[in-house]
Amino acid sequence: MRDLSSPKEKSSSLNPIHLLLVEDEESHAVLIQRVLQKHPSRQPFHVTIAGSLQEAREHLRTAVPDLAIIDIHLPDGSGIELLTAETGTPSFPIIAMTSHGDEKIAVKAMKAGALDYVVKSEAAFNDISHVVERALRQWHEMSERKRAEKELRTQAKQLMTLSHISHQILSGREVKALMREAVSLTARTLKIIKGAKVLELLPDHKTLLLRAGTGRWSSLVGQTIAVADQDPLIRHVLASDEVVFVEDLRTDKRFGGSSLLFERYGYISGIGLPLSSREDCLGILLACSEQPWLPNNNDISFLQSVANTLAVTLEGKRTAARMRRLQNDLLQANQFSTLDEFGAVLAHEVNQPITAIINYLRACQQIIMSAKEPTLQTILELMDKGVGEAERAASIIHHLRESAQTGETVRGYENLNTTVYDASQLALGEAVDGDIVVNFELSPRLPPLYINKIQIQQVVFNLVRNAVEALAGAGEKSLTIKTASTQNHTVEVQVQDMGPGVDSLYQDKIFKRRFSTKKAGMGLGLAISHSIIKTHRGDLWVSTTPGGGATFHFTLPVTS
Ligand SMILES: Nc1ncnc2c1ncn2[C@@H]1O[C@H](COP(=O)(O)OP(=O)(O)OP(=O)(O)O)[C@@H](O)[C@H]1O
Ligand SMILES: [Mg+2]
Repeated sequence: MRDLSSPKEKSSSLNPIHLLLVEDEESHAVLIQRVLQKHPSRQPFHVTIAGSLQEAREHLRTAVPDLAIIDIHLPDGSGIELLTAETGTPSFPIIAMTSHGDEKIAVKAMKAGALDYVVKSEAAFNDISHVVERALRQWHEMSERKRAEKELRTQAKQLMTLSHISHQILSGREVKALMREAVSLTARTLKIIKGAKVLELLPDHKTLLLRAGTGRWSSLVGQTIAVADQDPLIRHVLASDEVVFVEDLRTDKRFGGSSLLFERYGYISGIGLPLSSREDCLGILLACSEQPWLPNNNDISFLQSVANTLAVTLEGKRTAARMRRLQNDLLQANQFSTLDEFGAVLAHEVNQPITAIINYLRACQQIIMSAKEPTLQTILELMDKGVGEAERAASIIHHLRESAQTGETVRGYENLNTTVYDASQLALGEAVDGDIVVNFELSPRLPPLYINKIQIQQVVFNLVRNAVEALAGAGEKSLTIKTASTQNHTVEVQVQDMGPGVDSLYQDKIFKRRFSTKKAGMGLGLAISHSIIKTHRGDLWVSTTPGGGATFHFTLPVTS
């Protein structure tokens, strides 16, 4: 095998074109080589001549030429063997050479992957440099086309991935599942990526929660990784709010050769993309590889789109959580939409204990004034009741203030029967003129309920007061107060009267504020009660008592 460099090549600084000439006939080889040397091309030719299949194979084992000219007739076999030895398509352009009359073999060579052929003649040898140039150009064009096709295929794949993720968002998939899918699709679409993950920046702006991860990170999903400050790559992404690449961590000076996130899991290159919303950075998408890797523009724009999609999802999740909180706050605050309302509720709820206090004190006055018998014991009992009512008024004011300020009330585990009984007695109190028959049917097997006792007492008080008021002109003055466990982990309270019932015209209106059919009614009792039961996650409704009258029901959940 001879290595023949042209004089032009020796003096030229341009990269030579490596050409393998497989030709056993020396005179032909020399002629071809001379023609090529004389050719005024921009790049010089570096020609290696192989005189047999064997020599050609040896050369190809160590080097890939830019082009090969192969004589089909060789002393140790057919040049076509060299073509078919290449798997699929040859990795370099090949020009086949045949003798005159061997055109059929030339066709065979073309089918085997040769780019062109020449039939040996002096004229053909003299023209060989043009044939070589044409073949090189054609090869270059083919390679470019293949590269563009491959890129298009990659882009199509990436677009499909993105459209898949967007579709998942639109179909309202759960955020966690969506993140999982986004990282696994990313890793599948970009083969070089061996680990992809989504880190959510928590509201403290310091800690990151691993929301989804592939590769070596998958086992850590759901764990908080406190690295916002520790890891240089993450610090860079968060500080700049821009995409950051590390082609090779071991040589990248910006990171001082170390990144906990990478090293611990055996990655040496990667890209970090911020998940940016309009106002804030919500997290990071990381894609890493075990080999040095510099993503191309396509890879970056694909990853950028995945990051944007994830940012939109995360922002949506946060907005939904904010809306839920707001809704809840509104529900709580709904009890007092204005200061006026607060005043009205206060007046309504405190009016009764104050009236009771006044009555107890008047009774004391009368006893002392009449002074028939100085029944100190009776006076003490009346004053005790007065103090109890004053304390209840103070407690109502305290809870109303608390609820108005924070939207929350203090709850505890309470015995519902005692709560219902005490409140009913208060409501019946001085209102019972003796002819109302009151039945208590309290279930003995109720679990303790997690409630605000004062508020639930207010509800029972309001319902029993309404019932007493409804019985004012009724023939059968009976009232039943029941408690019972019901299905679905709830407990139900019923206040049943035999009064005139609720006119069907008013059924929808009675729970609204300021609706009253009474001369001195404020129209607040049921509205307040409804709002209290709602904040306890229960229901309040009215039905008709069998045989006439109204039954008010409310439920409360049993919490474990
Ligand atoms: N047990 C009942 N039987 C018949 N109608 C009732 C009964 N309870 C309530 N209602 C109707 O519902 C209306 C609203 O009741 P709500 O307790 O909200 O206000 P109110 O009793 O009129 O006034 P207040 O705010 O002083 O309690 C009443 O005016 C009455 O028409
Ligand atoms: Mg009322």
